[in-house]
Amino acid sequence: MARTRIALIGPGAIGATVAAWLAQSPELALTLCARTPLDRLEIDAPDGRISAQPEVLTDPAAAKPVDWVLVCTKTYDVAGAATWLEHLLGPDTRVAVLQNGVEHVARFAPYVPVERIVPAVVDISAERSAPGRVLQRMNGNILLPAGPDGEAFVALFAHTPIAVRTTGDFTTALFRKLTVNCAGGVCGIVDKPNGISRDPAIAELMVALAEECVAIGRAEGAKLADDLAAAVVRGYQNSAPDSINSLHADRMAGRPMEIDARHGVIVRLGETHGIPTPMNRLVVTLLTAIQ
Ligand SMILES: NC(=O)c1ccc[n+]([C@@H]2O[C@H](COP(=O)([O-])OP(=O)(O)OC[C@H]3O[C@@H](n4cnc5c(N)ncnc54)[C@H](OP(=O)(O)O)[C@@H]3O)[C@@H](O)[C@H]2O)c1
Repeated sequence: MARTRIALIGPGAIGATVAAWLAQSPELALTLCARTPLDRLEIDAPDGRISAQPEVLTDPAAAKPVDWVLVCTKTYDVAGAATWLEHLLGPDTRVAVLQNGVEHVARFAPYVPVERIVPAVVDISAERSAPGRVLQRMNGNILLPAGPDGEAFVALFAHTPIAVRTTGDFTTALFRKLTVNCAGGVCGIVDKPNGISRDPAIAELMVALAEECVAIGRAEGAKLADDLAAAVVRGYQNSAPDSINSLHADRMAGRPMEIDARHGVIVRLGETHGIPTPMNRLVVTLLTAIQ
């Protein structure tokens, strides 16, 4: 049987981790679409190191149509990802978007027929130290909307320890993750890893940020528990104190930060619904000034 052809755009922390796991299956033919060249993937996964040496392209013109595209760039690198999509899309190609935020489909709608976009909520903590070298702190999970495309994506990961599954309530999954992300904006501002959440005053700020997101999520139809904001901050407090979220990693590396996808969207949706979001607005202002 022909192998399933997968092209992964953006082999950074999440992309390299996902790619290394996919590359362990002989049934999948994987190509990495990279901006910065890399020789191999080496992932320090929770149960030991895994490595892989898939095909790597750095020139979009060399890419050919595939069955699946996995987009793992940052949300602000969509235009760069789109230069690959021009060459990777065939008549049946599905495009999974593994990014944070809640606007996966809208972001790629200018480039891909919307019925072929498969949004994914990624809950994997991964930090890259060099091209292709990543610390994967937990096996993690990926959630997709219920339906045939989601199930086909789940099947790609059947041999991996990453828990990939579908949900009938994807809106709730999106906003639960956004609640986690927006609380972490504080780490980006103070330039300190997750351990800073153990400071009670910082924890209070994080809860306030998360509560705004819960209010917006509910207005968008998400079913979010009353104690979600507090539970999210407890999650930060119980995580490894030296772990670094991807917005903070961007600040440390001097890259742009996903300010709009993680905080600006809460402010924008707040305006739509008439819900005040002063904490997230403040974070947008401060992070933008830092950037
Ligand atoms: N890291 C985490 O723990 C985590 C957890 C959950 C969700 N997420 C989300 O997952 C997404 C990816 O985050 P990340 O942490 O993996 O980011 P990252 O480490 O910065 O990786 C992004 C990758 O995209 C590449 N890229 C950018 N433009 C490109 C282009 N035109 N063509 C090919 N590759 C391109 C970058 O190349 P360079 O190597 O040249 O920079 C980099 O390798 C984000 O939306 C993030 O919020 C991250």
